[in-house]
Formats: sequence, structure tokens, C-alpha cells
Amino acid sequence: MNSVNASAEKRALYAETAARLAALIDGVRDREPNLANAAALIYHSLPDVSWAGFYLMKDGRLLLSSFQGKPACVEISVGKGVCGTVAKARTALAVPDVHLFEGHIACDSASNSEAVVPIFSGDRLVGVIDLDSELLNRFDGEDLDGLAAMAGIIGDGCDF
Ligand code: SME
Repeated sequence: MNSVNASAEKRALYAETAARLAALIDGVRDREPNLANAAALIYHSLPDVSWAGFYLMKDGRLLLSSFQGKPACVEISVGKGVCGTVAKARTALAVPDVHLFEGHIACDSASNSEAVVPIFSGDRLVGVIDLDSELLNRFDGEDLDGLAAMAGIIGDGCDF
């Protein structure tokens, strides 16, 4: 497949996944069931993802929330690791090789690349979506755009 088709296919997959997410959380404001369903949906919809889940801001740090994948570290300080870097900067990050990211927090030694996007409720940062992959360079700007759309659905659709 050429890169134009691959890119169109990826956008279509994100659009479909975002529509499914919106349908899943429609009429449900409660955060926990929505995040649990969102983690399952993302993990099972996107290819080559070894971990998908959420860290939520609590008492000034990120705390593990719903996820699919292997057990993960419970707390991340703002400014630490990929998640904490995103929380501090409030902008999304795709890390092509986590072993080259200074301060990367390795929850799973098989993880090689990572994408993290912030979740906002209004203009308040409430958490991040975190995805890991065993592939190098798994995530690009289109993944970040697709995940940001889902972060928007979650931020607007749930009570934080
Ligand atoms: N690698 C992340 C930690 C969370 S796990 O990937 C699930 C980081 O550096 O923030």
C-alpha cells in the first residue's frame, strides 16, 4: 500500500473509532465506565498497540486509571516520563523510540514507541491518553490527531 492510501486508511479507522466512542459514551456522564470502555475500544481497534489507557490528574500528579494491557506504574509526576512531559507541556507527543527518550518510564520492557495526548475539560488538564507499541515508530501526527479527537469526546462527554 502506498503512503497516501495508508494515511487515508488510518484516518478512516480513527474516524470510525471516534464515532464508536461517541456512541458508547452517549448519555453516560460517569467517568469510570466511559474510560473503561474507551480503553477497551482503543486497544482492540488500533493495530499494533500493546497498552492503551488513561492517567488522570489527582493531587498534582498523574494516577493510573482504566487501561488494557499489562499492569503499569501507578503514579507519574508532572514533568516525568512521556506522560508527565505531555501533562506539563499540555501538548501531544509521539515518541518513535522510547529508549532514546530521556526519563522514559518503562512499565513494559517490550514497549518501543509511545503516543500520549492530553485530555481537557474546558481548559483544565484532567489527564492523558497513553498508547504503547512493541513496534518502533508506530505513531505519527495522524495518530496524535485521531487520539486528540477521542480525547475531546472524552473531555466533553464525561464529568471530571
Ligand atoms: N511510558 C510511560 C509510562 C506509562 S506506561 O507506558 C503505561 C511514560 O514514560 O510516561
